[in-house]
Amino acid sequence: MTTDLLSGRELLQLYAAPTGPTQALRGVDVVVRGDRITAITGPSGSGKSTLLAVLALRERPASGELRHRDRLVSGLSRRELQRLRRREIGWVAQRPAHSLFPQLTARGQIAQVAGLRGLSPTGTELAAVELTDLGDAYPGTMSGGEQQRLAVAAAAVGPPALLIADEPTAELDDESAALVLRLLRSCADQGSAVVLATHDARAIEAADTVLRLRHGVLSTEHETGRERTATIDGQGRLQLPEEMLPLFPDGRVVVTLADGHVELHPPS
Ligand SMILES: Nc1ncnc2c1ncn2[C@@H]1O[C@H](COP(=O)(O)OP(=O)(O)O)[C@@H](O)[C@H]1O
Ligand SMILES: [Mg+2]
Repeated sequence: MTTDLLSGRELLQLYAAPTGPTQALRGVDVVVRGDRITAITGPSGSGKSTLLAVLALRERPASGELRHRDRLVSGLSRRELQRLRRREIGWVAQRPAHSLFPQLTARGQIAQVAGLRGLSPTGTELAAVELTDLGDAYPGTMSGGEQQRLAVAAAAVGPPALLIADEPTAELDDESAALVLRLLRSCADQGSAVVLATHDARAIEAADTVLRLRHGVLSTEHETGRERTATIDGQGRLQLPEEMLPLFPDGRVVVTLADGHVELHPPS
């Protein structure tokens, strides 16, 4: 079953900067559903991490409306928010060490998260990211890639209703990235709403829905696979998904109305 776990409308987020407030999110409408992987892409500084922090209920937006299971997040008490974050939301920070407990071993991280979620570890969590041999290691002694795999494995315990990971494959070679993406897919298959920020083609390829952020604005939404959804603005302008642009290298296109639909061809 596909349900809206989170829905955000007109989300705005501001940060203080020496030159005045920065608008990190400028009116974002977004829906997050279970059973799928949603990737948020966009250049550095476009607001990906900010949007993830808002969706993970770690930061309150400056304005706009965010609903979690149809309840207004702004109406939740601090206790309720804390309970949700502990029990239902897995979080992988852009710097994975920030979502790990420095004083706990790899096995300890899994046990700790499982405990917070009212679960018992199954013993397979570390194997899923090929870290069984590092069960007794502390994050401080691990490589960036190992920390990243551990952070994802810990966040995925359960799996939680919502799993949010900020650039979870950034430090990984192809083999490790594939392990992490397979784990995220298995969470989605078990019902989790998985949300990633990424500019890694491997992660974008693995997503069911790709949202593109530019300067704090979500500009295009499309499904991966052959069919894409794009938006036509009030002036009739259509923004094509980036991966289709190579078809039109000089920016010219022949538009044909054909039997109730429109075809775009490169000029011959
Ligand atoms: N804690 C913060 N304090 C001040 N400015 C911030 C903070 N976090 C993010 N920003 C600013 O908000 C904008 C969006 O940043 P961020 O969400 O980290 O983008 P991304 O993850 O896409 O690189 C950037 O201009 C960044 O400098
Ligand atoms: Mg970021």
